[in-house]
Amino acid sequence: MQVVILKDTDAVAEYGAQLFIKQLAKKTDAVLGLATGSTPVALYQKLIAANKRGEVSFKDSCSFNLDEYLGLAGDHPQSYRYFMQQQLFDHIDIDAAQTFVPAGDTDNPIAACQDYEDMIREKGGIDIQLLGIGTNGHIGFNEPSSGLMSRTRVKTLAPATISDNARFFSADEEQPHLSITMGIGTILDSRQSVLLATGAAKASAIAATVEGPLTAACPASALQMHPNSVVVIDEEAASKLENTEFYKHVERENQKLKAKLGL
Ligand code: PGA
Repeated sequence: MQVVILKDTDAVAEYGAQLFIKQLAKKTDAVLGLATGSTPVALYQKLIAANKRGEVSFKDSCSFNLDEYLGLAGDHPQSYRYFMQQQLFDHIDIDAAQTFVPAGDTDNPIAACQDYEDMIREKGGIDIQLLGIGTNGHIGFNEPSSGLMSRTRVKTLAPATISDNARFFSADEEQPHLSITMGIGTILDSRQSVLLATGAAKASAIAATVEGPLTAACPASALQMHPNSVVVIDEEAASKLENTEFYKHVERENQKLKAKLGL
């Protein structure tokens, strides 16, 4: 697990955006794994700007989002489909038909989950998966106690997640309690994972993810088993880690090695 500690939110977004830009430079038809939440927004703005400057193109790529609220159609303003349209898809040159988000309004969620897994496989698997992290350590909507080898399925949201996300819903709107989410096993199958976190509220979850035991009590700790996983965080999110000096040293060495190898 590579731990990159940067000074602020902007630097975290820039680092993450560059990983996506490099991936698309290497493979124009890359399969992108995307995430919602407030953390990825700054990264998406950087991708939009780079796309407008002609530095990256999404036209041959496709994307799979981590999760969706069950019961919300894609045109509902709180749905994750709607969020992705507003925050990214409507502003870049990606083919709309190649952007996949689990179907929140499906009549058959069980079949929809299997279809999503099949579709990811048919596209050749996810090349680079973006992740946020919940204050309770969730990735996607894989809440604490999620199976570490789980696949896309219906999940009940944890009370902590419902209260973290309540700010997006008005008082008269009913907040969904169920979701469809890629499983932890689905996420672990991605060729690279990029978890972003900023702010002190994420510090305990990050410490558990990076330095805690591998445990379903902190679903993000499963990334310790990922073959190519990077955790990109600001100083505040890093504030409960014990080995920060070592991670910074490793990152300096990585940068030197990359410069030497021209990567
Ligand atoms: P946030 O959500 O980026 O809005 O903090 C992250 C998550 O719940 O995965």
